[in-house]
Amino acid sequence: MIKKIGILTSGGDAPGMNAALVGAIRTGYKLGKEMYVVYDGYKGLVDNNFVKVDEHFAEDKMSHGGTVIKTARLPEFKEEKVRQIAVNNLKNEGIEALIVVGGDGSYMGAKKLTEMGINCVGLPGTIDNDIASTDFTIGFDTSLNNICSAIDKIVETMSSHNRCVVVEVMGNNCPDLTLFAGIACNADYMITVDRPYDEKDLMKVLKEKKAANQDHVLVLVAEKILDVNALAKKIMAETGWDTRADVLGYIQRGGTPSAMERFNAVRMGAYAVELLDQGIGGVCVGLVNNKLTYHDIIESFNIERNKHEDLYHVFDLIK
Ligand code: ADP
Ligand code: F6P
Repeated sequence: MIKKIGILTSGGDAPGMNAALVGAIRTGYKLGKEMYVVYDGYKGLVDNNFVKVDEHFAEDKMSHGGTVIKTARLPEFKEEKVRQIAVNNLKNEGIEALIVVGGDGSYMGAKKLTEMGINCVGLPGTIDNDIASTDFTIGFDTSLNNICSAIDKIVETMSSHNRCVVVEVMGNNCPDLTLFAGIACNADYMITVDRPYDEKDLMKVLKEKKAANQDHVLVLVAEKILDVNALAKKIMAETGWDTRADVLGYIQRGGTPSAMERFNAVRMGAYAVELLDQGIGGVCVGLVNNKLTYHDIIESFNIERNKHEDLYHVFDLIK
């Protein structure tokens, strides 16, 4: 029976990570475990930067964004000799199991640690919603709310000036934040990897909206596809719309986690401990059709990303 469990957050931080800690730590103590937090992601494992915490750890931070135990990226963790240092440090402390809250890269580290004798469970922690084994990642809902409230403000000022705005949204190659925000904010045009940039079509749509006397236009672009400043200049030159570009940036990733975020993060944290208690490791937790589930980490990489064709259809219907 596992006695000591560690937990770390890795990769980009995401609102709701603190709630996941609370779900795991509370459950751990209820099941008779000793719970440890690891600071700075995998770096903290290598640096021996972990401490035993009591059952109330992070409760006062559930309503805060970011991660109270910090996060980091450690590319060297791909090397077995570096991971061996981490494994030795954990074993010296008697920690046999670990919860890793992060994205795909962090999951890979978790899988490799499991193969080296530390049972790991991954929790999907990233605003990008780019983990196919879950419908929603921890952080996505809050980030979507941040994006919508920022866009609402941008639209107020753009419409006062009868302008077009090109807004770049985060997502690291995953279109979900852009797509969901496009529907929720009534965007006029969206550019994502699943709906690539068609310059002629875009200019045509924008000219039609000008001719129809629409008071502003909102174009959403998922990051890493094109330069929004260059696109704004092109639109200005070709359509007559006075146009601005806006890169939303880190405002999307911080801030108070939404109630739904906390709710799901607590559930996932609790479930991860239950799985470890049953001796299950090398898996990642997901929320599928609102039910907690788990997949083998390697198998989870083969699950195809949901391209949400139904949602693009909705977007087309409301345009
Ligand atoms: P995310 O977890 O959000 O996808 P990264 O891809 O940056 O973020 O991965 C986070 C960390 O996970 C990396 O800095 C590294 O420490 C670890 N990691 C990523 N890929 C691997 C791998 N193939 N093997 C072992 N560890 C990995
Ligand atoms: O993965 C979360 C995310 O915010 C992505 O949306 C974005 O591309 C990336 O992290 C930014 O990372 P960094 O914090 O290294 O700038």
